[in-house]
Amino acid sequence: MIGAGGHGQVVADVLMAAFRSGSADYPFGYADHDETLWGHMLLNVPVMGSIDDCASFLHDAIIVGVGDNRTRRRLFEAFSRSQERFVTACHPSAVVSANAVIRHGTVVCAGAIVNAGTCVGSNVILNTACSVDHHCRVGDYVHIAPGARIGGEVTIGDRALVGIGAIVLPRVTIGHDAIVGAGAVVTRDVPPNTTVVGNPARPLIR
Ligand SMILES: CC(C)(COP(=O)(O)OP(=O)(O)OC[C@H]1O[C@@H](n2cnc3c(N)ncnc32)[C@H](O)[C@@H]1OP(=O)(O)O)[C@@H](O)C(=O)NCCC(=O)NCCS
Repeated sequence: MIGAGGHGQVVADVLMAAFRSGSADYPFGYADHDETLWGHMLLNVPVMGSIDDCASFLHDAIIVGVGDNRTRRRLFEAFSRSQERFVTACHPSAVVSANAVIRHGTVVCAGAIVNAGTCVGSNVILNTACSVDHHCRVGDYVHIAPGARIGGEVTIGDRALVGIGAIVLPRVTIGHDAIVGAGAVVTRDVPPNTTVVGNPARPLIR
């Protein structure tokens, strides 16, 4: 796991649960920039050292477990250039349609649901108990936070964050790098780089 913080440990936990259910991938160790973590055990998994030294740690695949979308993308792109293999982590309690596509490096947390015809990009976080309904398009490096509900035929641009418990109505488009605030109800398209909050969701005026 690249990243040993809170989200990195969730990813480790998902991988361990999947391993107990028959997945071949086991979380062998973390790499993290925070040297105070090096040598520590987190969820019984060692922090092996710096992310910069990852190539020297025995591994056959990685997953980037960092919550911030832009940081996660930067790390994912850097490791892509060095030809790393990325695993996808899917908790055994998640329900993913056999007719959905989940691209590499994505984590599907406990209780998440992905319905038929949906395509989820690379290095996405589908967090605890979120649902993404049918025929959605979820871009790369997106984070759909715990309990968020995405209706059918929704499009979510790269690096967007849909906050905890938000609701996105069917056929809405959320632009790249947009943020949907926690608990928002999104009834209309959200332009790129825009933060919306409330019910109905409106741009956050500062
Ligand atoms: C919307 C959000 C991004 C705004 O964060 P921010 O830019 O730091 O804004 P602030 O906290 O300074 O709040 C600005 C104003 O918006 C209001 N506000 C913030 N979040 C809100 C929300 N989710 N719904 C309604 N109003 C909200 C604040 O009360 C404040 O109002 P005020 O100016 O009248 O006092 C953030 O509050 C949020 O909801 N993030 C989602 C977090 C999340 O779900 N992460 C996933 C973790 S797993």
